[in-house]
Amino acid sequence: MLQFAHDLDQKSELLELHEPTVAYRTADDVEMNKPVKVASVPQRSPFRYPGGKTWLVPYIRSWLADKTNSVGVLVEPYAGGGIVGLTAAFEGLAEHAVLVERDPNVAAVWLTILGGQTKWLADQILNFELTHANVTAVLRIEPSTQRERAFAVILRNRVQRGGIMADGAGLVKTGEYGREPGSRNPEATLAFRQ
Ligand SMILES: C[S@@+](CC[C@H](N)C(=O)[O-])C[C@H]1O[C@@H](n2cnc3c(N)ncnc32)[C@H](O)[C@@H]1O
Repeated sequence: MLQFAHDLDQKSELLELHEPTVAYRTADDVEMNKPVKVASVPQRSPFRYPGGKTWLVPYIRSWLADKTNSVGVLVEPYAGGGIVGLTAAFEGLAEHAVLVERDPNVAAVWLTILGGQTKWLADQILNFELTHANVTAVLRIEPSTQRERAFAVILRNRVQRGGIMADGAGLVKTGEYGREPGSRNPEATLAFRQ
């Protein structure tokens, strides 16, 4: 993706839009024997995502920071956990970030958070007692509001194996809730990220 972005920049005839003062870092710079320390990327997304793009963040940061003109809109297709768009927005690397997400369940989380219901969602997460009975009680009903859907999606993302959200993916055993990859909370609550 970065190579593609780099190529597009090179093709641009608007000189003021490229010619960075330092060379871009591109996918070619990725050293396979030197993994990006994903722990160095602030965890701004409530999702844990198989195939997440956290590893890409240092490269996107570098690419955006090298641009001589400020970036008006950063569009993140296949947003999922949205870590690229969130990082750009939090760090002022773009004036606006647009998350493009096809899955209505994942989109419900973003619409809830960005639509003024963050506190409600955070309270649900903080106050949820993570037991097998409570989990299945939430996951077996069809949510009637967007924010209830958002909570069920976050819950499913936490308790289904590997963060896989497809129906039918196995649940993590109750005793493993606090030990799932990405979980930092030994108390086995849903509030696993700041
Ligand atoms: C692997 S996840 C993305 C991970 C994300 N970038 C992150 O770092 O957390 C892929 C996401 O793309 C979404 N998706 C798949 N096809 C799409 C499409 N055609 N348009 C928009 N989103 C799509 C899926 O629903 C899924 O949430």
